[in-house]
Amino acid sequence: MERTRWERTDEPRQYGPYFADLVARGMDIDGEARFVDALAPRGASILDAGSGMGRVGSALQARGHTVVGVDLDPAEVERSRRIFPDLPVVQARLDQLTAQDLGDHPTDFDVIVCVGNVMVFLADDTEQLVLSRLRALARPGGRLVVGFAVRNGPPSARDYPAEEFVADATAAGWTLEHRFATFELDPWSEDAEFFVGVLRA
Ligand SMILES: C[S@@+](CC[C@H](N)C(=O)[O-])C[C@H]1O[C@@H](n2cnc3c(N)ncnc32)[C@H](O)[C@@H]1O
Repeated sequence: MERTRWERTDEPRQYGPYFADLVARGMDIDGEARFVDALAPRGASILDAGSGMGRVGSALQARGHTVVGVDLDPAEVERSRRIFPDLPVVQARLDQLTAQDLGDHPTDFDVIVCVGNVMVFLADDTEQLVLSRLRALARPGGRLVVGFAVRNGPPSARDYPAEEFVADATAAGWTLEHRFATFELDPWSEDAEFFVGVLRA
């Protein structure tokens, strides 16, 4: 199995300690979680796909949702379990993820969250496969929320034009309902560098 862009770079050495420091200093890093909470049913079942050090999943738990994280990076899984011990995290690859990997956790999620540039750190040419794997874990009518840099992202990330993402997501069985340029709902425009998408299963 080909390594992800995440594994091929220095990015992991910066991301985890950076957010761990913000958490330790009590900084607000819940923007994505507030956005997701606004569209989720109360007490939703939520999959945090590419959960990293756990900041988004933990912030969603704090808002009353049942959350499980999935991430391939053992260092981030360990960091997440240390900083947010109540957040369950499964170490697995999103391009291989099945219901069996999730054990006793829900496997028909109300909302799947895949934010923080996860989509642009996947292994080459696995975007549609990952979107299909996530689609198989969504309940009928469930939502997918993505957020990633379409260009000028982290040095090791790929450029992923919004239209290419939408085509991949459509082929995987998702329907785009909303797009924004930020998690503060700034309107999408073709020169935006960041894409926030809300999709329906
Ligand atoms: C920049 S971090 C973002 C983490 C988290 N979503 C956040 O916003 O804080 C990107 C994460 O994507 C994960 N990732 C990338 N490709 C993956 C894959 N194929 N399967 C599982 N996790 C993956 C990495 O391990 C990393 O933790």
